[in-house]
Amino acid sequence: MTVAAVQKQKEATFSQKHITRVKDLSISDITAILDLAKHYKNERTPQKILENKVILNLFLENSTRTRVSFEMAALRLGARVINVTADGSSVKKGENLDDTLRTLAAIAPDALVIRHGENGAAQKASEIFECPVLNGGDGTNEHPTQALLDAFTLREKFGSLDGLAVVICGDIKHSRVARSNFHLLTKMGVIVRLTGHAELLPSDLPTVSDMREAFKDADAVMMLRLQKERMEKTLSMTEGEYFKRYGLDAEKLGWAKPDAVVLHPGPMNRGVEIDGVIADDPKRSLVLDQVSNGVFIRMACLDLLLRT
Ligand code: CP
Repeated sequence: MTVAAVQKQKEATFSQKHITRVKDLSISDITAILDLAKHYKNERTPQKILENKVILNLFLENSTRTRVSFEMAALRLGARVINVTADGSSVKKGENLDDTLRTLAAIAPDALVIRHGENGAAQKASEIFECPVLNGGDGTNEHPTQALLDAFTLREKFGSLDGLAVVICGDIKHSRVARSNFHLLTKMGVIVRLTGHAELLPSDLPTVSDMREAFKDADAVMMLRLQKERMEKTLSMTEGEYFKRYGLDAEKLGWAKPDAVVLHPGPMNRGVEIDGVIADDPKRSLVLDQVSNGVFIRMACLDLLLRT
């Protein structure tokens, strides 16, 4: 890390109104979030600093981890939460995104968390809402709080991010997790290698076509599922063939460092991109640590954006 980066890290102040894109976050912003998340992880009874706030969780795409952990984070800090999903909302009557956003902005929550299938949906919301907007995932574009919780989990495991080598493997092309992680981890001094089946590699990011080369000396391997809901055409092989060639099994994990750890943002498809035995191996898998840490990261984000 450069001297300037180290200096910034020491200052660790937060300067954002919204968290919609990793590219807006400075090293200092990211460090402030990770440090505050660590504080919340150590704090058994956090102060109810958001007890007069109402947070709107607008999830127009399915979610388990992100939606529930944002709600848990808000409740832990004393806020109240309104959950809106596509089912049961006027989206099902054909209301478009702009009208939905303008309608909910008129109801004036204290913060909006939004997940939507359209790239740029959270950014659009930040231009309409007066309050802070947090991106819970927009199309193939970004999932910043996932990248933050992944960075937190890696920093916790290794003590520092600077100089780590992390492989992200699988359906990179359709993955907002890969994009946010690539930009955030690179910013924090991590060497990130993106690899997988050629049909699933993106044109907008640097990739390594040889999987074995990408895995060499890696400290961590992050596997991604096939995001069929975003694919324009089906894969040219069966899921069984895909697992054999690209799925994480003991042999492929052996290409990385001997004690390399395994991450997966979830949901996992066991026997497709990852062997269930590896996913469940407590010595190697950080999958459930990622989920737990997601609550602390989201508490930190809500605190930094909303504390008055
Ligand atoms: N990692 C993640 O975004 O999972 P969910 O889709 O369950 O929220």
